[in-house]
Amino acid sequence: MIDFNRPHLTGNELKYIQQAVVENLKISGNGEFTKKCQHFFEERYGFKKCLLTTSCTDALEMAAILCDIQPGDEVIVPSYTFVSSALAFVRAGAKIVFADSMERNPNIDAEKIEDLITPRTKVIVPVHYAGVACDMDRIMEIADRHGLFVVEDAAQAIDSYYKGRPLGSIGHFAAFSFHETKNIIAGEGGLLVINDERFIRRAEIIWEKGTNRAEFFRGEVNKYGWCDTGSSFLPSEIIAAFLWAQLEELDAIQSKRKKLWNQYFELLKPLADKGAFCLPEIPDYATNNAHMFYLVNHSIEERSALIKLLKANDVQAVFHYLSLHSSPYYHERHDGRELPNCDRFADCLVRLPLFYDLCMDTVGNICDVIDNFRV
Ligand SMILES: Cc1ncc(COP(=O)(O)O)c(C=O)c1O
Repeated sequence: MIDFNRPHLTGNELKYIQQAVVENLKISGNGEFTKKCQHFFEERYGFKKCLLTTSCTDALEMAAILCDIQPGDEVIVPSYTFVSSALAFVRAGAKIVFADSMERNPNIDAEKIEDLITPRTKVIVPVHYAGVACDMDRIMEIADRHGLFVVEDAAQAIDSYYKGRPLGSIGHFAAFSFHETKNIIAGEGGLLVINDERFIRRAEIIWEKGTNRAEFFRGEVNKYGWCDTGSSFLPSEIIAAFLWAQLEELDAIQSKRKKLWNQYFELLKPLADKGAFCLPEIPDYATNNAHMFYLVNHSIEERSALIKLLKANDVQAVFHYLSLHSSPYYHERHDGRELPNCDRFADCLVRLPLFYDLCMDTVGNICDVIDNFRV
């Protein structure tokens, strides 16, 4: 069976874990490897301040605290996304106002955001689906005009750009994921980016269970104590050491993934040109970080048939998000607006295997199976 995803190990993970645990004897969080990883993102992408977290979900929860979400505040989130993009704000009492995707791209339709803004709106959460940028200039312009925060859900968007600017560097906050399905992995893991300097000190306190322990360890205060709300959001050095082994290989990983992605695109384009299905469209303002290769069928029946055919040929292909506005948890609270583009991607989008250790020939074989697909 060709798996949909297989985690890639660079080979240095155990060495660095050994270094953290046995040599440094620093196993809890915020040690040498945590700092190395945070510094890597700050240097390479110009993010103002980075804090490693135990997941992207945790990073989004920290962002919700930093935005000071109060019960009844409204947060605009695309419905075609992972639960966490909305859940992190719901936990803080927010009402989610779901936005539709664009017609030809699963990302939030920036042109329709303004209609959703009310006096209670506090945050917009653009999700860079498949690592492809949302229209950030438009979103930031709307947010600035209405005094809103922007939290980029960059879970899938490592090493991807909008008009030459790294994703994660544009909103007030951004959240990345290092879950084992992502380009760079740590099992479970995440990163909160704080681009608005006013929030850096508070973010560190929230990160460390509501204490100013980080300041104490830097020698800035002579004792530390309980200053604010927070939780245990920081990961252990074991996770950070694993992540460091991955980050060192970022360029090689990205380059291989892009080759695989381009191979899929080239081989499937003739079929797409004949109208068999749609391929991903990368807008001029965005780069492609090859996080995911997907195609969009004409109907749910067609998609089910394609997944079945691939499975019969030992290829694991999978669909993706279900519309959050009609989820069992949220549909009663949703305001009833229809979000047709989101529903279409929920019904018709299918993801093909894409991981570092996949062979170019295997991509060819998968495309041959799809070539034989007739409905
Ligand atoms: C868009 C998006 N946001 C958030 C998350 C949550 O990430 P994590 O599993 O690191 O909490 C995911 C997970 O895949 C995601 O796809």
